[in-house]
Amino acid sequence: MGTLKETQLNHRPIPTERLPDLLRRMPKAELHIHIEGSLEPEMIFTMAQRNAVPLSYASVDVLRQAYVFNNLQEFLDVYHAGTTVLKTEQDFYDMASAYLARARADNVLHAEIFFDTQTHTAHGSSAEMVINGLHRACADAPAKYGMTASLILCFLRHLSEEEAFECLEQALPLRDKLVGIGLASSEVGHPPEKFAKVFARARELGFRLVAHAGEEAPPAYIWSALDVLKVERIDHGVQAIHDAALMQRLTQSRVPLTVCPLSNLKLRVFPDLAQHSLGRMLDAGIVATVNSDDPAYFGGYLNENFIQTFAALGLTSAHAYQLALNSFNASFLDATQRAQYVRRVDEVFETFE
Ligand code: HPA
Ligand code: ZN
Repeated sequence: MGTLKETQLNHRPIPTERLPDLLRRMPKAELHIHIEGSLEPEMIFTMAQRNAVPLSYASVDVLRQAYVFNNLQEFLDVYHAGTTVLKTEQDFYDMASAYLARARADNVLHAEIFFDTQTHTAHGSSAEMVINGLHRACADAPAKYGMTASLILCFLRHLSEEEAFECLEQALPLRDKLVGIGLASSEVGHPPEKFAKVFARARELGFRLVAHAGEEAPPAYIWSALDVLKVERIDHGVQAIHDAALMQRLTQSRVPLTVCPLSNLKLRVFPDLAQHSLGRMLDAGIVATVNSDDPAYFGGYLNENFIQTFAALGLTSAHAYQLALNSFNASFLDATQRAQYVRRVDEVFETFE
C-alpha cells in the first residue's frame, strides 16, 4: 500500500455522478463503531418495553428529536440514557445482529466493534453476559451475513484507572472473545496518560491497542496515545491537522486514524463537512479510514458517511480506492484474510462500469 500519490489506479477515472454508486458497492471494513451507538430509537423502545425499563422520552419521535448536540458530552448523556434498556444477553445479541445486518447492506465485509462493560456493570449486568451476547452475534456473522466481526473493549476515561483495571480483570476469563482494548467517553480532562499502567498491562496480555484521541482535545492527546499508551490506531485524531510535526509522524509511522465525519459534524468538531480535514489527511499520506462512530445518533451508517463526505470535499475514485484499502490494511485481521478482502476491493474497482 502506498500513499494516495503513489497508489496505482487500477481503474479508469469514475465520473462524479457515479461516485455514490461506487462508494455503496465498494467492499469496506468498519473500525470505529460503538455498538451501543447503533441502538435505533425503535429498538430502545422495544427493549424498554420487554424489560420494563422506564424511559424519560414519551415516544420514538420525541427521543429522535433529542438527537441535537453541541459537543461530545451532550451526546454521551443521551447515549447513556439509551443504554439503560439493555438487560439480557439476548438484548446484546440483538443489538449487535441488527448493526451487522445494516453494515453488511453497506458492503461492510469486516467490522471491529467497540463496546464498554463499565456502563452495563454499573446497571447491574455482568461483563460476562455483555461479552457473551456480543460475541455470539460476531461468531454468527460469517454464516448469517457473509462478513467477519470482532470486539474491542473500551475503558471509560471519565472513570479512574483503578476502575479500568477492575474492568480488565472481569474481562480476562473471556479473553479469547476480544481482539483489543480501547479508550472512549469524555475526552477533555482525561488524557491518555491517565491510563498508562492499565494499557501497559493490556499490552503484556497480548491485546491490540487503540484509543480515542484528538476528537475534541488538542494534538498533545494524540502524541501521548502514541508514545505513552503505544496504541496501534488512533480513533478520530482529526485535531492532528493543527500540528505539522504530528501529521508527519502519522504519515511516516503509518499509524491509522479511524475518522468519523458525520460524528464530527453532529458534535460540532467541524462547522460543516466542507471544512473537514479528511481530504487533507489523505493527501498528506496519512492512513485515514472512514467510520460511523454512533450511527443511530449521528444521521447515517457507513455509506452515508462516505457519500456525504465525498460530495462536500470533492473527493475522487482514487480517494475511494485508497480508503477501501486503508480500511482492511488498518484492521486487526491476519495478513491472509486482509489480502482476500483487498482482492474483493480490486474486483469491484476493476469491473465498475
Ligand atoms: N467519543 C468518545 N466516546 C464515545 C464516542 C465518541 O465519539 N462515541 C461513543 N463513545
Ligand atoms: Zn468513537
